Amino acid sequence: MKVLSVASEIYPLVKTGGLADVAGALPLALAREGFTVRSLIPGYPSVMEKIGNAQTLHREADLFGAEARVLRTEVAGLDLLVVDAPHLYGQGGNPYVDAAGRDWPDNWRRFAALGRIAGAIGQGLLPDFRPDIVHAHDWQAGLAPAYIRAAGNTRVRTVQTIHNLAFQGLFHPAIFGALGLPGAMMAMEGVEFYGQVGFLKAGLHFADAITTVSPTYAAEIMTHEGGMGLDGLLQARASVLTGICNGIDTQVWDPGADPHLPAPYDAARIAAKAASKTALRAAFALEQNTAGPLFGIVSRLTGQKGIDLIAEVIPELAASGAQLAVLGTGDRNLEVAFTQAAAAFPGTVGVRIGYDEALAHLIQGGSDALLVPSRFEPCGLTQLAALRYGTLPVVSRVGGLADTVIDANEAALAADAATGFQFAPVTTDALRHTLERVLRAWQDPDVWLRLQHSAMRSDVSWERPARQYAALYHGLVQG
Ligand code: ADP
Ligand code: GLC
Repeated sequence: MKVLSVASEIYPLVKTGGLADVAGALPLALAREGFTVRSLIPGYPSVMEKIGNAQTLHREADLFGAEARVLRTEVAGLDLLVVDAPHLYGQGGNPYVDAAGRDWPDNWRRFAALGRIAGAIGQGLLPDFRPDIVHAHDWQAGLAPAYIRAAGNTRVRTVQTIHNLAFQGLFHPAIFGALGLPGAMMAMEGVEFYGQVGFLKAGLHFADAITTVSPTYAAEIMTHEGGMGLDGLLQARASVLTGICNGIDTQVWDPGADPHLPAPYDAARIAAKAASKTALRAAFALEQNTAGPLFGIVSRLTGQKGIDLIAEVIPELAASGAQLAVLGTGDRNLEVAFTQAAAAFPGTVGVRIGYDEALAHLIQGGSDALLVPSRFEPCGLTQLAALRYGTLPVVSRVGGLADTVIDANEAALAADAATGFQFAPVTTDALRHTLERVLRAWQDPDVWLRLQHSAMRSDVSWERPARQYAALYHGLVQG
């Protein structure tokens, strides 16, 4: 079976968040299940620089204003189709926003082009690759199912995956005419969303199947509180909506062979994790010989991630003898709050504002616990890496965090099943209460070690999710 995966970012070529990790790892996992997968991505400068001799498979005379090419190449085991269109993707920088954080003004055209080429490939544009499934990720690929539906009579089946309902790709209705979709599609039973053109709405309306990245998030987005205006549509399509938890690439995230750690470790050699803690403390100028746990954060610093709750409890954390190492970038006010906390608690709180893969690995390796207090979290990947690194996740009980971490309550502890700590609701009081539980567990090295072992036994690989996607694809193709 042939699958075209369509995404606006893909690890290791271009990444702003977990979408890239998934778009980069799922095709490899599906290939291991016997699927032929190609990934369609935009040819941003950062992508064009990294692809070697690509083959030109197709020339499109006019893709939203100028000529474009579809290139094929292989990078890191990924079979890539790249839309080379400098008039759309040539400007460099972040794929979505300018240096001031404003959306690129032509985003509608840039990602309509991605959807249009995906749709055309679904219709047989490339003679050597006629996909059975076109799998669209997030709003940037959301028009692909609409273009395929517009073409009418077709055997290709479509899947729309929601990685984050907060980003919907909403644009002024005046752009509709330029999309080249039938006029009747500018309707509630189509791409229209409260008077605007909604790219994600289009995918959710037209795709044969909808997935999101955890079962709990699938349930949450059908509620008024979690649906971000799309709950009605999602309820109407509940029979084709499923939640499949993400995995992580267990070769990229492997404490036994991680080039960013000073010494490898695994469940049998967990004492060697101490070398990473020493290195992490050094990297963040934290005191070396304190007795408390070291908490880590690797996150976008935004409201979604609930990082402001941490900022509020820093004085108590510091008083308890714990330490904190924060890596992140995002909202200016949060960057400032953490930078000030680091200045107020030198040796106890360390902060690095920025994006740094190597440091992300060192935080996973060197921390004792990872804080993920999200207000909502479709899946979350950092808690999965933490489990694998024996770094106990402390998470809010929402979305994929609820599905992937087993709270250290009495029953789970007794059954040796607990892998971390959950708190609910997402308030500073609930967080405080749970941090007290974490500190109590830390006081008992046997309990902590058992938690680490259970965490490291968690299956965070892509194997099971890939089988779930495989079953979904087979079901769609068999009708
Ligand atoms: P989201 O996609 O909502 O940001 P996820 O947990 O799904 O959240 O994925 C985040 C990914 O980005 C993880 O691979 C994480 O390690 C990485 N990441 C986030 N912030 C940083 C950062 N500042 N530096 C390096 N990696 C980061
Ligand atoms: C989004 C979500 C995150 C998820 C990631 C990959 O960025 O915010 O929870 O893990 O997509 O699916």
